[in-house]
Amino acid sequence: MGKATDSRENTGRGSLIALEGIDGSGKSTQAAYLYERLKKEGVCCELTMEPTASPIGALIRQILKGEFRTDNRVIAGLFVADRLDHLLNEADGIAAKVESGMTVITDRYYFSSYAYNSVDMPMDWVIQANKPSSAILRPAVNLFIDVDPDVALERIAKNRRHVELFETKERLRLVRENYRKAFQMLENEERCVIIDGNRPQAEIAENVWGVVWEILSKEALI
Ligand code: ADP
Ligand code: TYD
Repeated sequence: MGKATDSRENTGRGSLIALEGIDGSGKSTQAAYLYERLKKEGVCCELTMEPTASPIGALIRQILKGEFRTDNRVIAGLFVADRLDHLLNEADGIAAKVESGMTVITDRYYFSSYAYNSVDMPMDWVIQANKPSSAILRPAVNLFIDVDPDVALERIAKNRRHVELFETKERLRLVRENYRKAFQMLENEERCVIIDGNRPQAEIAENVWGVVWEILSKEALI
C-alpha cells in the first residue's frame, strides 16, 4: 500500500466516490469516516452531498418536508437539475475539482435518482434523464450501504426530529429493491459494491476503506 501523496505525484488524476443507501442506512456516517481516513492518508479530498446546499437543493428540501407540493416528475427533474449544478457550478462544481486531481466523496449521486424516483415512474426514464450527469462524471465506485428498512427506520426514529417524504417502510423497501435493480441493469457500465450496513460503524468503515483504497491505488486515481 503506497502513500497517497506519492501516487498523486505520479498521476494527478482525481475521482468521485458515491455513497448510496436508503435513508438511515448510515451512508452519511460512512462518508464522514471515509473523508477523515483519506485526509489522514494525505489525499486531497472533499466531502459533499445531494441534495446540495444550492437554491435548487433548498427547494428540494422544502418539498421533502412537505412545505411545497408538486408532481413527482417535477421532483425527479429537480434532482437532475441539482445534480448538474453540483457538477457544473462555476464557483464550486465538483467536475472541475475531480478534473484538477481531487478525490470527491458524495453522499448520494445518480443511483439515488434511479432508486427513489423510479418508485413513481419508469426506471428507464430516470436513467435517461440523468445521462448528462453520467456523461460528465461517473463514480470510480458506487458504494451501497445495505440495511433492512426496519433497521433504517429504527435508526431514524432514534436520531431525528422529523420524518421526510420517503421515509415509510413500504417506500424504503421499494427503494432498496430499485437500488438492486439499477445495479443489475447498469452492471456493465457502473462499478457498484454492496456493503453490509448491519454491523458496527467502525467495522463498516474498515470494509469501505479497504474497497476504496484498493480501487484508488490500483487505478492510480490518487
Ligand atoms: P443516512 O445518511 O444513511 O441517512 P446516517 O449516517 O445519518 O444515515 O445514520 C443514521 C443514524 O444511524 C445516525 O444517528 C447514526 O449515528 C446511526 N448509525 C449510523 N451507522 C450506524 C451503525 N452501523 N449502527 C448503528 N447506528 C448507526
Ligand atoms: P438525504 O438528505 O440524503 O436523506 P438521508 O440523510 O435521510 O438519507 O436525502 C434526502 C432525500 O432525497 C432522501 O429521502 C432521498 C431523496 N433523493 C431522491 O429522491 N432522489 C435523488 O436523486 C436524491 C439525491 C435524493
